[in-house]
Amino acid sequence: MTISHDVLVVGAGLAGQRAALQAFRSGVDVGVISKLHPLRSHSGAAQGGINAALDPKDSVKDHIYDTVKGSDYLADQDCVEILCKEAGPTVIEMEHMGTIFNRAPDGSLDRRAFGGASYNRTIYSADRTGLALLQGLYEEVGRDPRVRIYEEWDAIDLVVREGRVQGVVALQRKTGKIEGFAAKAVVIATGPAGRVYGKTTNSHESTGDGCSLAYRAGAYLKDMEFVQFHPTCLPHTSILITEGARGEGGILRNSKGERFMERYAPHFKELASRDVVSRAIVTEVKEGRGFPDGTVHLELMHLGKEKVESKLQEIVAYARTFAGIDPVVQGIPVFPAQHYMMGGVSTNSRAETNIPGLYAAGEAACVSVHGANRLGANSLLETLVYGKIAGQNAAEYAKKASASTLGPTDIDAATSVVHQILERKEGESPAKLRSELQSTMDELVGVYRHPDDLINAVTRVAQLKERYRSVVVADKSTVYNLNLMEAIELGHLLDLAEVIVTGALARTESRGAHVRTDYPKRDDAKWMKHTLAQITKEGPSISYLPVTVTEYQPKERAY
Ligand code: FUM
Repeated sequence: MTISHDVLVVGAGLAGQRAALQAFRSGVDVGVISKLHPLRSHSGAAQGGINAALDPKDSVKDHIYDTVKGSDYLADQDCVEILCKEAGPTVIEMEHMGTIFNRAPDGSLDRRAFGGASYNRTIYSADRTGLALLQGLYEEVGRDPRVRIYEEWDAIDLVVREGRVQGVVALQRKTGKIEGFAAKAVVIATGPAGRVYGKTTNSHESTGDGCSLAYRAGAYLKDMEFVQFHPTCLPHTSILITEGARGEGGILRNSKGERFMERYAPHFKELASRDVVSRAIVTEVKEGRGFPDGTVHLELMHLGKEKVESKLQEIVAYARTFAGIDPVVQGIPVFPAQHYMMGGVSTNSRAETNIPGLYAAGEAACVSVHGANRLGANSLLETLVYGKIAGQNAAEYAKKASASTLGPTDIDAATSVVHQILERKEGESPAKLRSELQSTMDELVGVYRHPDDLINAVTRVAQLKERYRSVVVADKSTVYNLNLMEAIELGHLLDLAEVIVTGALARTESRGAHVRTDYPKRDDAKWMKHTLAQITKEGPSISYLPVTVTEYQPKERAY
């Protein structure tokens, strides 16, 4: 059976829902498929806030400059301009949709400091801003009967034929049935791929499905070697302790009691950009100034119980539950963990990919507004600004496009891949292969990247890909077969890991979050360019694309 929509959005987080809202407001019929209930999407895990230069003393220009500087000059400045200009209207629009933001005593939207920003411009809802935005948007989408959401459907194939996108084949978790979703335009908004790593703040569902499906269908991936490590995560679980905690005045201390960020970033200190703070923490621990559990401490005690418990409610609960620490009276042990992929499906400022009819937005995409290092609180902003742009342009494309030709052959092809996995009797389990992949990435492709480690990672990922050809699942049923889904998701993770390590080995410089111990300096003459990866039978084929510079010529970053 084939279901048909003008525009099909894959993913129902903030980018996906905002794309869907805009597409149906533009007058086309829209379907959204999501492997989760929309309110469970990873956007809901975003804690600290969303950036917008709303205060009259702040300026869009400063937001643009901070973002470009934070990106280590790899962001496309025309795209950053769109992001920052749309920030104010976007936040106000979300507030009108029902998002409840914290208020200042005068009733205006309250703002907090955030990393790499020259002004306090982060609007927030305590420390659950993503969830507050998601709820507001979900209510708005739900008010309109013209959008159909297919919950707990996993996209398993993106069909591109006759030079354009034709739709998606998806598997319903509840029944195991596989159906075709014909569409004139498809928007990929499947969020993060952080589960390539074991130590990550990302949810277990963050397996980069849409990014990998687009890559397999011929879309370019851009800048995948740029992986962000969030400086402050709980040990063992890697649960995020929001940058908002430092924005509210939290400080970092090593085991000698030193406020060590004074040495690494004399002006911004704990609120330097994330790449800088993560490197500082790793260095402190490596040089013996960490605590015995290999962490440094994030101290909030001086802020007072009332402030900590009201503005940072979630992280207080996380620290108490998962670290046995009461942040009102004790320092929170923290260490960096993977948090965000700056790279993704390559798009231009209209959210178009290189495949006609295929659009992408949010963390699955790389437009690129974050370049080599994203500023905190710019990702929620990006999901909404570029989600809207993707929905608008996908709708306009769909209005002019002929009907999709997706049909039984496409469904049969995807079904046969699934059946091969289900019917295989011997091989290795997805859990075993995934855990080896994650430890490879954790150990060899981290905050600091050593050349031998990267070479080793390329070999190990290639071996894992080979072993994956005989992945076997113990559960052979059709109903809620999460074992099967894990196997399919592992295929996505492996494809993306291969692109990450290939790009990281090729880029012989240090820029933003990509730091090579053998090439410790940024090299603008050679590397002021985006990495593009396209799939071939032999693996990713790498090419490069110039960075768009409008106003800000690269200079050395200092915080
Ligand atoms: O620290 C945080 O609250 C994370 C925010 C972000 O990644 O934008």
